[in-house]
Amino acid sequence: MLRRLTSLDLEAVIRLAHLALGKWWSPAQYQEELQKSHTLFVGFPQESALLSMAAAWLILDEAHIVLLAVHPAHRGKGLGRLTLNYLIQQFPPTISHITLEVRSQNSIALHLYQSLGFVILGRRPRYYQNPEDDALILWRRHEFGVSGFRTGDFRNTPELS
Ligand SMILES: CC(C)(COP(=O)(O)OP(=O)(O)OC[C@H]1O[C@@H](n2cnc3c(N)ncnc32)[C@H](O)[C@@H]1OP(=O)(O)O)[C@@H](O)C(=O)NCCC(=O)NCCS
Repeated sequence: MLRRLTSLDLEAVIRLAHLALGKWWSPAQYQEELQKSHTLFVGFPQESALLSMAAAWLILDEAHIVLLAVHPAHRGKGLGRLTLNYLIQQFPPTISHITLEVRSQNSIALHLYQSLGFVILGRRPRYYQNPEDDALILWRRHEFGVSGFRTGDFRNTPELS
């Protein structure tokens, strides 16, 4: 079952990060993020391991999704979508929009975000290294209590038209 993660989950977080994300944050950064009051960190534990995890920074009215990872042996079963939806459901009522960055070549993640109503707002050329890739900046309006948008839900959003 999905739940919030704490510093007690540090070892499992680092193991999953190593498997699913490669070099992302240092162990000290994971420790810090698990403790910060404005970082929301969730995951799907199974015994001493984590099958998935996601994190967001909550800054005033904005949530910035900074991490989403599913264990390689458990991908393609809906866990990424479930974990992302759970993270979004935990946002406080102050959050009015959500943003994130994704590699332009990460078609699976991009498909997942767009199917949840995120739209591409910008591109940062050559933002990522090893391999080099552009970052796409995605954005979605957040309505408290609503999580599972599908593509097209923002067609009438004035700021984007
Ligand atoms: C991106 C990631 C989190 C997706 O997790 P997942 O559990 O495999 O995804 P889901 O099973 O929930 O599927 C999400 C969508 O992607 C699609 N998808 C999943 N695997 C796919 C594949 N191999 N090829 C094409 N589409 C795929 C699914 O069809 C689904 O869309 P649908 O519901 O419209 O059919 C996972 O691949 C991962 O951890 N990748 C490495 C880390 C990463 O890239 N994180 C995102 C950084 S921004």
